Amino acid sequence: MSNPIIQKIDSALSDAGAKLLNAVTEAEIEEVRIEILGRNGLFPALSKEMGAVQPEDRKAVGQAFNTGRTRFQELLDGAKQRLAAGSGAKSCDELDLTLPGRLRKLGHKHPVTKVIDDSVAIFRRMGFIVADGPEIETVYHNFDALNTPADHPSRDPGDTFYFKDGRLLRTQTSPVQIRVMESQEPPVRIVAPGRCFRRDTPDATHSMNFHQIEGLYIDRDVSLADLKSILQAYARELFGPNVSIRLRPHFFPFTEPSVEYDFSCIMCGGKGCNVCKQSGWLEIAGAGMVDPNVLKAVGYDPEIWSGFAFGMGIERIAMIRYRINDIRLLYENDTRFLEQF
Ligand code: DAH
Repeated sequence: MSNPIIQKIDSALSDAGAKLLNAVTEAEIEEVRIEILGRNGLFPALSKEMGAVQPEDRKAVGQAFNTGRTRFQELLDGAKQRLAAGSGAKSCDELDLTLPGRLRKLGHKHPVTKVIDDSVAIFRRMGFIVADGPEIETVYHNFDALNTPADHPSRDPGDTFYFKDGRLLRTQTSPVQIRVMESQEPPVRIVAPGRCFRRDTPDATHSMNFHQIEGLYIDRDVSLADLKSILQAYARELFGPNVSIRLRPHFFPFTEPSVEYDFSCIMCGGKGCNVCKQSGWLEIAGAGMVDPNVLKAVGYDPEIWSGFAFGMGIERIAMIRYRINDIRLLYENDTRFLEQF
């Protein structure tokens, strides 16, 4: 059985060693130092007890006392060094001031995100608010409630991704119209940007995954002229004051009448060039007056409420805006391409 003083030194050293190993601040190290070496610390207290040690133990205890104190000092120094190294504090000699600085590249927005953000900002200024809906949709919201006939080709599993439980990856942002109208009373004025999916074979203008921005405006006495003026204002805000728009008759199940709308070509100003295939117009998207069947599906009275809707492909707008000739470039994540925007 060793002397109680030697035992105290041993256990104090192993405690202090553990504390110093975990110390992350100078204050913690100093606290341990005070506990052991401070005026009221362990070693000064022990040295007072030395007088009472039996003569035959005196040599061993004295040795333990001295080596303990040295060992403790080593632990202290080690902890201090570790802290200094971790904080990166170095002496001036170690600092090479001639090293060139490291350039941290600033990230920036993807062109698709830019078009979404800018479009949303434009529609916000016109009183629209942003709505959101799920990317995994029900057949009801994506097709049925949008008045899409049971035999419509867009429902085909060759065109649409279905899950085993019958749900699907939304093929358009139009189901957000239904979700918004289901959840609130008219009037409605929303835009809904988001991701859509179709089983398309990828090529320069098709991608299985793309984005649309949907618009829906429901109120009393809304007319096609209101739709045209909103789209016109959007076109001018995005592409400049000289852009004009035109509506062409078209068909969509959820609008009646339905239109496709074009912007005058932003490259040639409408004179005709190879971008607009000499027509002077760029096809942009679909729109129309919300079909009464859609209003009925969500419980709105079509005798009181009317409205318009539109849906645009974001990639299409981005490709026109940034003169991109292949949609796949937007999804390859090649930073040499993306850094240009
Ligand atoms: N959802 C249509 C599509 O993906 C686009 C569209 C057309 C949306 C007319 C509308 C609309 O809201 O009224 O092709």
